[in-house]
Amino acid sequence: MAHFTSLDELSTHEIERLIGRGLQLKQGAPVQPLPTKTVANLFFEHSTRTKCSFDMAEHHLGLHILPFETATSSVQKGETLLDTCKTLQAIGVDALVIRHGETGYYEQLQQQLSIPIINAGDGSGQHPSQSLLDLMTMYEAYGHVTGKTIVICGDLRHSRVARSNTQVLQRLGATVIGSGPREWFDETMGIAYRKMDEAVATSDIIMLLRVQHERHVDDYPFATEAYHERYGLTEKRMKWIRPDAIVLHPAPVNRGVEIAEALVEHPQSRIFDQMTNGVFARMAILERAFETSTTKETR
Ligand code: CP
Repeated sequence: MAHFTSLDELSTHEIERLIGRGLQLKQGAPVQPLPTKTVANLFFEHSTRTKCSFDMAEHHLGLHILPFETATSSVQKGETLLDTCKTLQAIGVDALVIRHGETGYYEQLQQQLSIPIINAGDGSGQHPSQSLLDLMTMYEAYGHVTGKTIVICGDLRHSRVARSNTQVLQRLGATVIGSGPREWFDETMGIAYRKMDEAVATSDIIMLLRVQHERHVDDYPFATEAYHERYGLTEKRMKWIRPDAIVLHPAPVNRGVEIAEALVEHPQSRIFDQMTNGVFARMAILERAFETSTTKETR
């Protein structure tokens, strides 16, 4: 079963194949339409980029999309995630794209379902389709990440983007460091901490993270301006970055907090390229889900 729940489950060869396929699709490589397959997108947390780019990827692949909204479904009557998914499988859905606030929600589902689950983000756990589009963006810039230094800046503790990216980047031979508030640094991620000034000046890739207010249990301890000055990509710090360095942010961006307003569309920013790449990364992920299930069906 070609679940796509964490890049940890995939070999580095398979990850590089998906990056390559995403880049080919962006260049206009032909697709094999999948009009007999139906997908449902289940978003239990809010989303703009991930939901809309999965929708767009599904349209590009000719997939049928079964509309599903948590607000008008029997989730509101207490239906469990497992029962919702088993219901959709029973009525003929061929794959599920799921975002859910519970870290690792997919572990039980994987045992109970016979259709692929594509993880569109689980709590503070993993965001593998974001990592794939981030990797595509890095490969567009450098052709590879081996030997590159990536600093992930900001709210690491609450970030599934940070966790997904750290693991896969290290496997692909990159050095990952962390920066931002010490309170939000996560020692369990196995990366070194650097102060922001040093980190941005010595990295090839500067990955900024949104402050994840919705996952904080304590009050936000910083005034916006103070956070930006201490831990943001300010116009002053931007002058110190390497001439070929690139700036990433998974978005939504808090302009003037993680990054200065004027830098969001700076020539070295790849923030909107990441969003474009998200469509092609997700097409590659969906193709994989159906390639494998078709292969199994014909065995
Ligand atoms: N980067 C990201 O996951 O954005 P959304 O929450 O808008 O999907």
